[in-house]
Amino acid sequence: MRYGKITGWGKYVPEKVMNNADFAALIDTSDDWIVQRTGIRRRHVAAETDQCSTMATEAGKRALAQAGLAPADLDLIIVATSSPDFMTPPVSSQVQAQLGAHHVGAFTMSVACPGFVYALITANQFIASGALRNILVIGVELITRMLDWEDRNTAVLFGDGAGAVVLQAADEVCGVRSFVMGSDGEGYEHIIHPSGGTACPPTAERLANREGYIKMNGREVFKFASRKMPEAVIEVVHKAGLTLDDLDLLIPHQANARIIEAAAHMAKLPPEKVFMNVHEYGNTSAASVPIAFCEAIEAGRVHRGDVLCMVAFGAGLTWASAVVQMGKDVPGLPERGS
Ligand code: ACO
Repeated sequence: MRYGKITGWGKYVPEKVMNNADFAALIDTSDDWIVQRTGIRRRHVAAETDQCSTMATEAGKRALAQAGLAPADLDLIIVATSSPDFMTPPVSSQVQAQLGAHHVGAFTMSVACPGFVYALITANQFIASGALRNILVIGVELITRMLDWEDRNTAVLFGDGAGAVVLQAADEVCGVRSFVMGSDGEGYEHIIHPSGGTACPPTAERLANREGYIKMNGREVFKFASRKMPEAVIEVVHKAGLTLDDLDLLIPHQANARIIEAAAHMAKLPPEKVFMNVHEYGNTSAASVPIAFCEAIEAGRVHRGDVLCMVAFGAGLTWASAVVQMGKDVPGLPERGS
């Protein structure tokens, strides 16, 4: 049996920041409303020179550097995103070329906000089966270019960025120890980019009707997420043969502080075992979990041998969770208690 050890991690977030006050000057909203209902204070917004592919590539380069691997060492690249440069070609091929990872296999996964967790689970299967040894997994989103800046229901919630990890084959027990993947397509209309695909091509009339932007039924998504996040955490921890007490850190999708707090409460996890950075980035969709993972490491909250739980929900509706164990000798991670 081989295990998918996380040996590298890296993030890229655009420099430009929009504060809540910037929105209050544009639409009928306020800093108070946004902070109280979501916990978001700022979000990073891509510059004109940033693309989904370039942000993913930068995060990927940083993860490879941390792992001490060259692009040529990779056996596969998986990119999770809902905001690729183009509908086709797959953005994963642009990332492969920009990294200079000559002719390595690459594919894109579109599973909305849980996309990175789905991609990590998938990468782990290739390693556990013995088929591949070194895989780069990236979650990236340039979602602000899909937003209606006049729609207060969505404009204030999202931000851009990318996060990546390198998974390498190892003999010690680590990597994805259990996982849950779920989908409920009955709720497909609750978060939708109506004129973004082939069902409703972007005609002048549809664009004038503002169908070229993401629409969301926030209340329904809130109810779904508040129930599904804790369920997915409890289920995946049990599947790993562990108890919630065994978890060192929960790394949840950063959509809304109230959803995270409700999930933590239902899973009986104290605040020190839950990582949150939604105040700084807003919802970066598929980039949210890997950016949070990188920042948890930067904050010294991830140690060698730690047992983490990653969990996310999003459009589809979809959800995923994974219990991830860190390796015992990973350079760049401190020993617990040190
Ligand atoms: N500023 C001020 N008022 C606002 C704003 C805003 N930015 N946005 C909405 N409101 C108004 C609404 O219009 C509504 O007014 P009304 O009562 O007159 O109709 C009122 O505030 C209350 O609306 P609610 O929907 O009840 O507010 P709620 O407390 O549920 O918070 C929110 C709204 C933040 C959107 C919340 O429902 C939420 O976080 N939902 C989950 C969203 C999410 O997590 N999406 C993730 C998936 S995204 C993906 O996969 C790409």
